[in-house]
Amino acid sequence: MDVWKQPWLKVGVFGACLSPLVVLAWQALTDNLGANPIDEITDQTGLWTLRMLLITLAVTPARRLTGWNRLIQLRRMLGLFAFFYGSLHFLTYIWLDQFFAVEDIVADIMERPFITVGFASFVLLMPLAVTSTTAMIKRLGGKWWQRLHRLIYAIAIGGVVHYLWLVKADLQQPLIYGSILGGLLLYRVWDRYGRRWLAGIPLPRKAAFRG
Ligand code: HEM
Repeated sequence: MDVWKQPWLKVGVFGACLSPLVVLAWQALTDNLGANPIDEITDQTGLWTLRMLLITLAVTPARRLTGWNRLIQLRRMLGLFAFFYGSLHFLTYIWLDQFFAVEDIVADIMERPFITVGFASFVLLMPLAVTSTTAMIKRLGGKWWQRLHRLIYAIAIGGVVHYLWLVKADLQQPLIYGSILGGLLLYRVWDRYGRRWLAGIPLPRKAAFRG
């Protein structure tokens, strides 16, 4: 049986990605969100945005390390879930936290650096979601599509900076997420340049020029 061809694989991953929302909804319905439910919803949706971004970024290293190339078929769904949780996070903020007070929201984005960075990351996530379809890949052309989608690294860095900036005392959690992202970025650099260098293969011209 070829696991990668089974329809339940995608259904299972979809269900797993949706489960944090189901848990959150259940906690809300049973009045189990603690003393400050809005804060809890903001924090949970923010954390899941960051986690889904990191899981999406881990697909390529996981493919290379395990040889499970078909993992690629799950990447679009994972990335779209990052956007989904990001949208819920933003919606919680503008609706439950700010009651759609546009002036206050704009002032907050301009004046509080952690909100500025979070907002910028979310805005950058939008074109990636919009261009995630096969038709858009064809329309943009593989090379430009890939270039655009490299933005996911900047978005994840923005997400970690946003998190680091907002926690006041205990930096442990954001630093853990930052280290995972650092590891994924290092893997990418290694994959692109380190392997070639070890094997004595010349670097691509652009890379050699950049030093
Ligand atoms: C890619 C985009 C984003 C990511 C990855 C992200 C991630 C996070 C994370 C990890 C947290 C902390 C959770 C915790 O304390 O346990 C958080 C909190 C928060 N985020 Fe975001 N966020 C993003 C975008 C935004 C946007 C667009 C806004 C609003 C404009 C926003 C507003 C907030 C607020 C108000 C909090 C709660 C701060 C507090 O607890 O005092 N975030 N976010």
